[in-house]
Amino acid sequence: MKTRIVGTGNYLPDNVLTNDDLSKMVDTSDEWIRTRTGICQRRIAKEDTTYSMGAGAAKEALKQAEIAGEEIDLIIVATSSAEYAFPNTASLIQSEIGAKHALCFDVSVACTGFIVAMSIADSMMCTGNYRKALVIGSEVLSSQLDWSDRSVCVLFGDGAGAVVMENSESDGCGLIDQEIHSDGNKGMVLTCGKNTADRITADGTLRTNQTIQMNGQEVFKFAVKKVPESIQTLLDRNHLSAEDVDYYILHQANKRIIESVAKRLHVSIEKFPMNLDRYGNTSAASIPILLHELSREHILKPGNLVILSGFGGGLSWGSLLIRL
Ligand code: UT7
Repeated sequence: MKTRIVGTGNYLPDNVLTNDDLSKMVDTSDEWIRTRTGICQRRIAKEDTTYSMGAGAAKEALKQAEIAGEEIDLIIVATSSAEYAFPNTASLIQSEIGAKHALCFDVSVACTGFIVAMSIADSMMCTGNYRKALVIGSEVLSSQLDWSDRSVCVLFGDGAGAVVMENSESDGCGLIDQEIHSDGNKGMVLTCGKNTADRITADGTLRTNQTIQMNGQEVFKFAVKKVPESIQTLLDRNHLSAEDVDYYILHQANKRIIESVAKRLHVSIEKFPMNLDRYGNTSAASIPILLHELSREHILKPGNLVILSGFGGGLSWGSLLIRL
């Protein structure tokens, strides 16, 4: 038995923050941000919350799948920006969409979260105990940014994406293989503290660490090494060439990272769709946001072979091979 994606959805806040807007807030420029990252603008939540955006994306995915909320028996939300420790974001979304039979929980694997959430849903569904799942990535990272730190605040944006997954007996479609890892030894190069990360320092002052801190160059080096390795492992294990894959849908962190992965795999950049110019890095939400755009625009077609690949805090990275 395999699990397959039968619907996609996304939700982006209306409020746009351009690079020029940012250049009035910190010492940066549209030129620097565009050339170093490929980002031109991002959406920033005002009224929207992690769970309201997640619910918006979920409703669209359910509509596309022609499935009622009541039929969903599993909701997993990948997020690092949940409003509450409990109830979890998935339970709040459950209530919004009337999925009264669903088991609900969140996973926290930073920008790799959506890949891990799909993997967990797949494993649970393959037991036969769960038939229809909603897997959602939703983030309000703007609430975790130090808006005076130009090295980080220009990178991130808010949004949500969702897929409906269903058990499928049919014709080789679905999640075929996966390859996911963590390396806690390198975890401190990309951090975001919670309340418990506050520390009283030796001089008695409280040091809070509740914003995203990153050694950008270390994360960059990690991503351009580990992502192609993970993809190559999936290709080799499934006797595929890089050309056999129709699209590589990567976490949208930086255009230069994606270009480097394409180059290392010797694949045309045309196979690596991007939307980070419009939304920035939306962490766990970036892959399902892009999936929905590609599906809505009929760029992705039934039968396409795709690899989804995420990387980020943990450090963590991983890829899924899927026949749509
Ligand atoms: O989803 C989580 C995963 N995160 C990532 O994938 C991020 C990976 N890393 C990156 O994408 C890149 O490392 C960055 C985009 C974050 C930074 O690009 P970089 O080419 O590595 O720049 P850098 O950190 O080496 O900084 C170069 C210069 C520095 O100035 P000096 O020391 O050369 O004078 C920085 O102070 O650029 C300066 N700088 C900026 N200048 C204008 C850093 N941020 C900015 C800024 N505007 N926003």
